[in-house]
Amino acid sequence: MWLLVFLVSFLIGVGTTFWYLFGRQSPFTVDSVRDPEPMELDQKKRDKVLKQGFTREKVPQSLDAIVIGSGIGGMTAAATIAKLGKRVLVLEQHDQAGGCCHTFTEKGFEFDVGLHYIGQLHENSFFRIVMDQITEGQLQFVELDKHFDTIIIGTGEEQRKYTIYMGKTEMEEHLKKQFPNDVKAVEEFFKIMKISARKTPFLAGLKLIPQWLALFLLRSGIADLLSPVFRLIGSSATEVADILTSNKDLQIIFAYFFYGVPPRDSSSLINALLLHHYKRGAYYPRGGASEIPFHITKVIQKYGGNVLVRAPVTRVLVDSKGAAYGVSVKKGQEEVEVRAPIIISNCGIFNTFKRLLPPEIQAKPEIQKRLDMMKPGQGSLLVFSGFDATAEELGINSTNLWLFNNNDMDAMMDDFFSLEKDEAPDNIPMMFITFPSAKDPTSKIRHPGKTCMTIMTMVNYEWFEEWKDTTVKKRGDDYMDYKMRFANNLFDWACMYFPKLREKLVFQEVATPLTNVHFLGAYRGAMYSAEHNLERFHIEVMAKNRCDTPVKNLFISGQDVFSCGIAGALHGGLLCASIALGHIVYIDLFLLKKKLKRRKAREMAALAKKLQ
Ligand SMILES: Cc1cc2nc3c(=O)[nH]c(=O)nc-3n(C[C@H](O)[C@H](O)[C@H](O)COP(=O)(O)OP(=O)(O)OC[C@H]3O[C@@H](n4cnc5c(N)ncnc54)[C@H](O)[C@@H]3O)c2cc1C
Ligand SMILES: *[C@@H]1O[C@H](CO)[C@@H](O)[C@H](O)[C@H]1NC(C)=O
Repeated sequence: MWLLVFLVSFLIGVGTTFWYLFGRQSPFTVDSVRDPEPMELDQKKRDKVLKQGFTREKVPQSLDAIVIGSGIGGMTAAATIAKLGKRVLVLEQHDQAGGCCHTFTEKGFEFDVGLHYIGQLHENSFFRIVMDQITEGQLQFVELDKHFDTIIIGTGEEQRKYTIYMGKTEMEEHLKKQFPNDVKAVEEFFKIMKISARKTPFLAGLKLIPQWLALFLLRSGIADLLSPVFRLIGSSATEVADILTSNKDLQIIFAYFFYGVPPRDSSSLINALLLHHYKRGAYYPRGGASEIPFHITKVIQKYGGNVLVRAPVTRVLVDSKGAAYGVSVKKGQEEVEVRAPIIISNCGIFNTFKRLLPPEIQAKPEIQKRLDMMKPGQGSLLVFSGFDATAEELGINSTNLWLFNNNDMDAMMDDFFSLEKDEAPDNIPMMFITFPSAKDPTSKIRHPGKTCMTIMTMVNYEWFEEWKDTTVKKRGDDYMDYKMRFANNLFDWACMYFPKLREKLVFQEVATPLTNVHFLGAYRGAMYSAEHNLERFHIEVMAKNRCDTPVKNLFISGQDVFSCGIAGALHGGLLCASIALGHIVYIDLFLLKKKLKRRKAREMAALAKKLQ
């Protein structure tokens, strides 16, 4: 048995080394970071980059690749391919680039729609290096206060408050202080976090090696011998939490980043990864989320490609041999064909397979099997509020709040999602509160005297489905009344903690799953596209849900590949670029990371010498 393990690992090792050394040119051999230029504050100049409307004339000649959807996944794949000197065209249906990373500004208030905070961006982390390389170091991050999250469980007299601190050791120590009777449980959970974080590359690796090999490793049991992650990913978060502790409050802490799936049906590994993500700090893009697409677009343009908006792709064009060769874009009443040898879809597997493929190909069993493995996830409801007051006046800051009615998350979710449409708004069991303007020091300069708050909770798409055929902003009074019932309850709940908000409120907008459909192209208004349940993370599904598809030259990128999150979707983009290029860019990035670390060490040594 061990011989076999050794042989297989050896072969994989030799194979990848060979592939790397003699494979194609690499996009990440040279460090492309430049000193950051001053932030572009002129909205017109920003729009020139982020809001270039699609026309036939703006399509670059002889394209090397087309990417459908300008979310972080698509932009990462596009920039990676572009950095090989290739021309990539990103097509976006909305009127600005960015997907979940776009922002909207109304009445002087700016809100980000799908980025509240990101982790794992400390110096020379893998994620930071990728972000730096695809933006040439122009994207800057602000590190939030070490107290980045507060969790409040229960209401009224009964409520308990816990605080989450970042820090390599401090996060764990700080939790132990708050749960003195559960020190062992906290320690165990942090061990799981460590294994999860260290060994996740094995899981991603399943998508890079041939599927038959991945399935062989899993089914033969060899994978389990290599690492416990293959088992951990399939174990329920509630089951693991039950083993660790009977303290229900602590169980909430182990799963507080809610994403619409009760912990019982969630993967313990994914929940552990979520907390781990912020262990070394929580960050916010300096200048807001739209800085991300702004800087990546420039890199794509540098190599002859572009990012065009108001460019809804209606079809992927497939030839008689079953290979994709282009897309059809709707321009007014017209359909414009754009061709390229590589087509990357970053608009999710449901949109791609159910809407963009020709019907005869959709019907193929290989495609149906891919669809059967996953289902659309829960929708979100967001309340965007604007205040004419400073953060100091309102008593707000960068710490986020997660609020739960009680400490039984499984029951809370089951009960809420099974409510009738009419009962739901008055029975919301959990919410998240964040203050975007308080997280970004440039907000004071960009939007003086204004502060904003975003509240988020999860909802069923079905509650809003009856209005799905109405048009945005004209959905009618009954829709407005219905969504305002949610919004008012959420806002009242927030005012219990921030009583000064109410009288300074001057702007409010509410986003429902239908808003996600319209602005984010989200299938059934899902917040994170496919549901992040145990079935999705079943180890064989992990191996089978790949970037390549049954349609030759068509590849899947973004959050449906591995997981949601800015980091998750970015990896979806890197995995996709690796498969589309036939070159594992992870190896280049890994070597670059080593190189940068050595450079830093040399610089530090030189500095120390100078100081002496
Ligand atoms: C409310 C909210 C809060 C979040 N908060 C955080 C957070 O704090 N931290 C974090 O890490 N993650 C967060 N996330 C998750 C994260 O933003 C997403 O998982 C990630 O950005 C998804 O990236 P993506 O590239 O896969 O897809 P998306 O960003 O969804 O991009 C898909 C793009 O495809 C476009 N599109 C769809 N159909 C078509 C078509 N036919 N033609 C052309 N274009 C099309 C869409 O308009 C969209 O721009 C949040 C998400 C939401 C919704
Ligand atoms: C924000 O305010 C809360 C409540 O006063 C406090 O607990 C928290 O530490 C503050 N956060 C920051 C970043 O100052």
